[in-house]
Amino acid sequence: MNIKQQIITHSENETENFAAQFAQTLPRGTVVALDGDLGAGKTVFSRGFARGLGITEPVSSPTYTIVQEYPLPDSKGMLYHLDLYRIENSISALAFGVDEFLKDLESIALVEWPERISDILPPAVTTVKIRHLTDNEREITILEEACS
Ligand SMILES: Nc1ncnc2c1ncn2[C@@H]1O[C@H](COP(=O)(O)OP(=O)(O)OP(=O)(O)O)[C@@H](O)[C@H]1O
Ligand SMILES: [Mg+2]
Repeated sequence: MNIKQQIITHSENETENFAAQFAQTLPRGTVVALDGDLGAGKTVFSRGFARGLGITEPVSSPTYTIVQEYPLPDSKGMLYHLDLYRIENSISALAFGVDEFLKDLESIALVEWPERISDILPPAVTTVKIRHLTDNEREITILEEACS
């Protein structure tokens, strides 16, 4: 796994802006695994990420619905925001139809709690790790998983 980028943000706003810029660099078909403890800033990151893709609807993590779909402006694709907290493993995820979201080449998938389905994530997944440093500081690391 290669570190592609690593930064420290000093506010919620900075994390949002970083996520927005990062989202704009991603080709359609990208699966982003968003990793971080409770309160690390996954929802903040997701909000900025969606904004960067031109989505104007309010974004919060879809814990109860598992997936939230937002049309990407001016294209056929979607942003699929998945929160797998309540999904036990890849078998339940596949039964739920997770494949449809991970394999859509017109779309972008942002996956919270990706470790629930680590055995079925595509080999080229981009991983974002958010680490809590202090009250207002977070370390954000972008990792490119090598194709295997
Ligand atoms: N640099 C920063 N980046 C992001 N969030 C920050 C930062 N500094 C402070 N915060 C605060 O940390 C909290 C992050 O909350 P958030 O809901 O995004 O976490 P989460 O990872 O989604 O948690 P959960 O797993 O409980 O859903 C917010 O209250 C936010 O204001
Ligand atoms: Mg959250």
